[in-house]
Amino acid sequence: MTIRVLSIASEAAPLVKTGGLADVAGALPNAVAAHDVAMTTLLPGYPAVLARLGDAAQVHVWPSLLGEGARLLAGMVGGQPLLVLDAPALFARDGGPYGDGNGRDWPDNGLRFAAFARAAADVAGGAVRGLRFDLAHAHDWQAGLVPAYLRYAPAGKSVPSVMTIHNMAFQGFFPAALFPLLGLPDAAWSISGVEYHGGVGYLKAGLEAASAITTVSPTYAREIRSGEFGMGLEGLIRARDGHVRGIVNGIDTREWNPATDPALASRFSARSLNRRAANRAALNAEFALDDGGPLFVVISRLTWQKGMDVLLSAIDHLVGCGAQLALLGSGDKALEAGFAAAAARHRGRVGVRIGYDEAASHRMQGGGDAILVPSRFEPCGLTQLYGLAYGCVPVVARTGGLVDTVIDANLASLAAGAATGVQFNAVTYGALTDAIERTVALFADHAAWTAIQRAGMKADFSWGRSGKAYADLYGQVLEAA
Ligand code: ADP
Ligand code: GLC
Repeated sequence: MTIRVLSIASEAAPLVKTGGLADVAGALPNAVAAHDVAMTTLLPGYPAVLARLGDAAQVHVWPSLLGEGARLLAGMVGGQPLLVLDAPALFARDGGPYGDGNGRDWPDNGLRFAAFARAAADVAGGAVRGLRFDLAHAHDWQAGLVPAYLRYAPAGKSVPSVMTIHNMAFQGFFPAALFPLLGLPDAAWSISGVEYHGGVGYLKAGLEAASAITTVSPTYAREIRSGEFGMGLEGLIRARDGHVRGIVNGIDTREWNPATDPALASRFSARSLNRRAANRAALNAEFALDDGGPLFVVISRLTWQKGMDVLLSAIDHLVGCGAQLALLGSGDKALEAGFAAAAARHRGRVGVRIGYDEAASHRMQGGGDAILVPSRFEPCGLTQLYGLAYGCVPVVARTGGLVDTVIDANLASLAAGAATGVQFNAVTYGALTDAIERTVALFADHAAWTAIQRAGMKADFSWGRSGKAYADLYGQVLEAA
């Protein structure tokens, strides 16, 4: 029997994206459709989302959703059913989904995503005529209150829930003064409810109340049991041990296929790697780089999580090894300035673009030789997966999903033809520069390098297996309910 799931996310590609969550939320409906799961996605009504929705039908009205007028719109985007919470006082703003254009969070994010979760729980619980769901799947802290609202819902107005952690570093913590506005019963103000260190913890609330918890790789599922990665929630994760599972993200092969990618100057496959040269030439022009290589690329938020401070300190060494760097990213202002200065210092060898550009990210994967991902922690990571698919060899820190998706080029794996990239242990100057040197040496061995590229391109990181894992989990949760 088909399982009907409401997926609740604060971003989903191609409508609104600030990071990997959007890729995953955007791909999940298709991934599970093959396994008899009918998934509908609920998104906040940001201007960009409303613009893409076209002529949607209004299917529900809340005269007062935690104090604000709101309505639910239903439409189709990319062949998948989409629900949008149109609440202008909360979501009709210029800027990003979580803050203004200058990186400042909206001061009312607590209320915005409480209202979003309240609406989601109503919809999942059957408040909207004609819409029936068996289960709610909540992503990250922005949807963290969904399991809590469902848990405290009146009998007959609830369904089981799955809570997915895409990043433990963002937990949605708000002052206690918000609690009375949430419309939760007094009983929810407890350590086993939404209370967290004297305030309201949205992710914490979701982890406490969800029927099952997932995160986006098996290694990260183990790591978040420790203080270093659990970021305060490790005790809760350990307490719910039997309910936590790691399911690695897939990639959307309709969007990320080098043989069909419209963003590439020259399309290619594992059998025609020579066709990448034209993409490399295009990148040279785009980033004002000289000929010669190997060319490392970076496509990343410029933050501490991503180890970008260590990369910045290693740029002189990278150039000294005869390598080049093309970087696309935005984030921390000091890092942005630091990378711009490095590009000025190393004209022709280092090219930097501060900003966000989806098509450019495809061109870089299609023309770069290696993609650097020196993350201090990485729940799953998607850019290394795109690199694998595009013959842009991943050079990654040994953490989280990077461990689960890249096979280090050591003597044994090289001999077996299994190597798909380079891993290094600690995100330090020494470990990163060693990894860069190893990569440069491997690149010089043309036969070894193409074998690594081909092995990566053959590895299957489509959604097949993980789509089934989610579908199986939904089935188990419903059986246990
Ligand atoms: P995270 O979600 O932690 O940022 P992921 O690797 O899971 O890391 O996902 C990042 C996603 O955002 C990838 O699809 C990547 O290509 C994309 N991305 C990151 N920075 C940029 C940028 N500056 N321009 C275009 N795409 C970017
Ligand atoms: C988060 C994580 C990233 C993961 C993405 C999608 O943004 O930082 O590692 O790939 O979510 O699950």
